[in-house]
Amino acid sequence: MSTLLQDGVAIRPADAADRDRLAALPSAIPFIEYPAIIAVAHGQVAAFLQFRRVADGEIEILQLFTAPGFRRRGIARALLRELLDRHAGISVFLEVRESNAPARQLYESAGFSTTGIRKSYYSNPYEDAIVLSLILC
Ligand SMILES: CC(C)(COP(=O)(O)OP(=O)(O)OC[C@H]1O[C@@H](n2cnc3c(N)ncnc32)[C@H](O)[C@@H]1OP(=O)(O)O)[C@@H](O)C(=O)NCCC(=O)NCCS
Repeated sequence: MSTLLQDGVAIRPADAADRDRLAALPSAIPFIEYPAIIAVAHGQVAAFLQFRRVADGEIEILQLFTAPGFRRRGIARALLRELLDRHAGISVFLEVRESNAPARQLYESAGFSTTGIRKSYYSNPYEDAIVLSLILC
């Protein structure tokens, strides 16, 4: 079942039939083996959020990506909301590059808070990761 956004963008879990559409995204490469929630517009994937369960009651967001032509329309926020709605009461963790202001702004506005820093976690270029979490009790 899909959630429909105002401008005709449908949000729903990805299935096997979406594999080619996901592969056609301009830059982010989804991991085949993990579940994803996607935003579909005019038959193409406009954005996806990929995650994994790390423990009972805990999810890690692996990737969140909106194709450049679809940014600033609330799609990433809607994907996050869908994840939280589909996994009520779960705690969510992720890492983000320290310099990634758009993503940090998005997560902070969604209620995430900083729980740690992983030094030089990223390469090309080397950069610290900010660990963010949304702990729901
Ligand atoms: C970060 C990213 C996923 C945001 O996607 P999006 O669909 O454009 O995000 P939304 O439209 O849902 O934005 C929601 C909020 O995030 C914040 N935000 C998003 N893009 C922003 C930007 N360029 N600058 C500042 N804040 C930004 C704002 O608070 C925004 O709310 P507002 O538009 O009401 O001000 C997208 O820019 C992207 O794919 N970036 C490259 C990949 C990436 O960095 N992923 C995150 C890795 S953890």
